[in-house]
This record gives sequence, C-alpha cells and structure tokens, in this order.
Amino acid sequence: MIAIDGPSGVGKSTISQALAQRTGCRYIDTGAMYRALALLARKREVSVDDAAGLAGLAREMRIGFTVTDGAPTVMLNGEDVTPALRLPGVSEEASRLSRFPEVRRVLVEKQRELGGRGNVVMEGRDIGTVVLPEADVKVFLDAEPEERAKRRYLQWKEKGIEVAQEQLAREILTRDRRDRTRKVAPLAPAPDAVLIDTTNLDPGQVLDRIVALLPGKGRGKAPKA
Ligand code: DC
Repeated sequence: MIAIDGPSGVGKSTISQALAQRTGCRYIDTGAMYRALALLARKREVSVDDAAGLAGLAREMRIGFTVTDGAPTVMLNGEDVTPALRLPGVSEEASRLSRFPEVRRVLVEKQRELGGRGNVVMEGRDIGTVVLPEADVKVFLDAEPEERAKRRYLQWKEKGIEVAQEQLAREILTRDRRDRTRKVAPLAPAPDAVLIDTTNLDPGQVLDRIVALLPGKGRGKAPKA
C-alpha cells in the first residue's frame, strides 16, 4: 500500500500513475471521487452546501476505476466521466463538499474497500493519515504555490485552454487554505510520511526518490505471513 498525499498541482497524479505502472499496483485517485460527487450533485441539483443530501448521493453513487488504452478512466454509475471531472468549477465544488464529515465518512469507507486489500497506489489529501494509516509507504509531496500554478497553467495550455496563471494561483491558494484548515481530516502529512519538495525536481527525479523508499526497491513487498 502506497499513500501519496499533497496539495493540488503538486504532481500527485503524474507521480502516482507512473508509480502504479512501475510497481504493477492499481491506481486509485480519491480526488476523483470528490469530483464525481460534485458532478452528480450538479446533475441532481443538490447544493454543495447540503451535507445530508450530498452524503445520500455519496452512498448511492457507484464509482469504478479502470484503464482504457493505458489511460486511467473513472466510471460514475456506469458512465465514463473522466474528462468531465476536470470541467471548470468542479475542483472548487469538490473542495467545498469535501469539508462535510458525513460526506467524508461515506467516501473514506469506499476508499478503504478499494484500497484495503493492498497492491495499490492511492493519492489524495488524507490517505496516510485517515484512509490507509497502515500503508507501507507514505509520501507527502509539496511545492511552492507559484510553481504549482505554473504546472496547472501548462497542463491547461496543453489541452488548448488558456487560463491566466494569476487566476490559477489564486484558485490554488483558496483551495489549499480550505483543504488545510477544514476540521475533519485536513490536508497534512502523516507523522511517518516522507516529505518531498518537488519545486525543483522533475517527475523522473520524484519517482526515483519514492522508488528508493519501497521495500525491495519497487520489486514489491514479501507477503505478510
Ligand atoms: O486531488 P483533487 O484536486 O482531484 O481533489 C479535489 C478536491 O477533493 C480537493 O480540493 C479536496 C478534496 N479531496 C479530499 O478532501 N480528500 C482527498 N483524499 C482527495 C480530495
């Protein structure tokens, strides 16, 4: 079990996917579950401030992680929602609804079902602290906010979407503040997490540092007796 936590734009998805490929583990993106709930709430016209309504939706939603042509794919109630998860506004709505304890309780239970059997790289905000506290390796990635905004800017640009870097920086800081200061499971490194500042590292360098932490250096851990 490998837990990768950190704020937005820090490279969690890139690193976690590469790590899953390198180790042969499944890749579970827990942020996608909060985003999928935001999408479902839009569709059903449930407000992101309605904690009980959102928890009900979270309980009924069926979420699946698969791989299509080598790319991670997220299924919501049988429908491929992968591109929709990145629609404008969804990040903000996911962050807002993630502050409710009753919503988190339901999603954390689903995350434990998905990851509890091991052989998994799970990324999020509270994986090392709450979801999989027994993870074999815990990593907390961080980077300077300006660098994270720059990375997000380049990601959008690659997709042909122009968003001002200053606007992205503002959004990242707002979301960070909310994710770090919420009362339940705030974004924070687990006491036994290895901290990696990725500001001046490329993805290959980050990956090498994490692989060096793995039992058997990426060749997998001997099964527990
Ligand atoms: O990783 P992401 O940007 O896709 O996550 C979207 C939001 O979901 C994030 O701002 C906070 C919330 N989230 C969370 O509270 N706990 C997680 N384990 C993952 C995401």
